[in-house]
Amino acid sequence: MTQAANAEKLAAIILAAGKGTRMKSATPKVLHKVAGLAMLGHAVKALDGLGLEKLVLVLAPDQDEVVEAASSWVKDPSILASAVQDPPRGTGHAVMAAMPQLAGVTGDVIVAFGDTPLVRPETYQALLAPRRNGADIVVSGFRATGPHMYGRLVLGQDGALERIVEHKDATEDERAIDLCNGGIMLIAGAHLADLLGMLSDDNAQGEYYLTDMIAHARAKGLTCAVAEGNAEDVLGVNSRVELAGVEMIMQDRLRRRAMENGATLADPASTYFSWDTQLGQDVEVGPHVTFGLNVLVENDVAIHAYSHLEGCIVHDKAQVGPYARLRPGAELMEGSKVGNFVELKKTRLGPGAKANHLAYLGDAEIGADANVGAGTITCNYDGYDKFPTKIGARAFVGSNSTLVAPVTIEDDAFTGAGGTITKTVEAGALGVARAKQSNIAGWVARFRSKKAKKGK
Ligand code: UD1
Ligand code: MG
Repeated sequence: MTQAANAEKLAAIILAAGKGTRMKSATPKVLHKVAGLAMLGHAVKALDGLGLEKLVLVLAPDQDEVVEAASSWVKDPSILASAVQDPPRGTGHAVMAAMPQLAGVTGDVIVAFGDTPLVRPETYQALLAPRRNGADIVVSGFRATGPHMYGRLVLGQDGALERIVEHKDATEDERAIDLCNGGIMLIAGAHLADLLGMLSDDNAQGEYYLTDMIAHARAKGLTCAVAEGNAEDVLGVNSRVELAGVEMIMQDRLRRRAMENGATLADPASTYFSWDTQLGQDVEVGPHVTFGLNVLVENDVAIHAYSHLEGCIVHDKAQVGPYARLRPGAELMEGSKVGNFVELKKTRLGPGAKANHLAYLGDAEIGADANVGAGTITCNYDGYDKFPTKIGARAFVGSNSTLVAPVTIEDDAFTGAGGTITKTVEAGALGVARAKQSNIAGWVARFRSKKAKKGK
């Protein structure tokens, strides 16, 4: 098989067995989220896009929840495998733990980290070009400024990578090198087992460093290259403070993506996205809007300030907020409107329908051009079960209506303001469900004179 053909076959190992003690968390570090997706999920998805034949996760013991979560992040879960590294004795040792899962895999292997969620598919792709040009190992590099603990990439006279020296083992001269190891590597599969066998733990940290493979590869006459990228992409997360820093960078990327796709963000810095938010063209987003997971917004939509959306679909020309809350299962059909302090859950608002003020609509189906008055509440829950409410096309629900589900307001029906509606209101009828008003003439004067007699 030619080298180039071999280079097209890819497997990957994600190292995620580090203890993550600095997170101070009962949750495994790699399951902490960035833009709503576990850090490991970002790594898995970016790698999955390369078309892997196998993806091995190296985990600490008792991390079944990580394996379970991972199967939802790949197109084909059959490529997934996991290995346990116990105890963690370095990045080289972690790759050794993965090897039994790679039996039968003949192509190249990418080694990636589970705690670097900003690595983009392009960063992994960038490793492939030097490999096609004949390098046996390609290492991601970047230029670092200021004090740091990264491994330094030592180049030979010809510019080829000679070895990697870990910060703790480096001399003063080596520490002056600004070209650093991003941590990601592509290794010709045929040499991997051999090179791992040459690692030792005779170093400052008493660990099997994956990075020592480079010097061994050079000694065997293999070629090693650097694919230089930017420092931001390979930022690792070790603490909650670093997690917040990475989140900010991810949010900036998502804001930029939304704007590049044709959305206007009035105040990008106060707009929060999830990794999977989809916004169409000419969507206007006011300040302080949050997009939770699984939101699809079509074209020409306005989402006004302080709205919170999650698990919902907003179709063309709909309007949302200010101060609206769209919860999972909300769907706003074309040209519909949800106004201030209105909450929707599992509710479809028909084309042109409106719920403009102060309402809770749950488990409801609302017809085209219906008007839901201020203060309308669907009573959809009896403490045990949920029940549906149906509001027909062109129906008009009076202000402060209480709709006790299951209940139907048919097409073109009205309900009087302040009603507690428990029965079907037939098409075209007015449903009134409140006590009749009676006025008592002269009552106020009698009341006041009684009080005056008591000296009040
Ligand atoms: C590593 C590199 C360093 C590079 C830096 C980039 C080595 C020896 N050093 O250092 O050159 O500049 O990354 O960020 O490779 N892990 C395991 N098992 C272990 C040890 C680590 O699974 O026994 C995992 C961790 O969970 C983490 C990743 O490997 O996802 C990297 O480990 P970490 O301890 O952060 O390596 P660094 O010291 O940062
Ligand atoms: Mg690290």
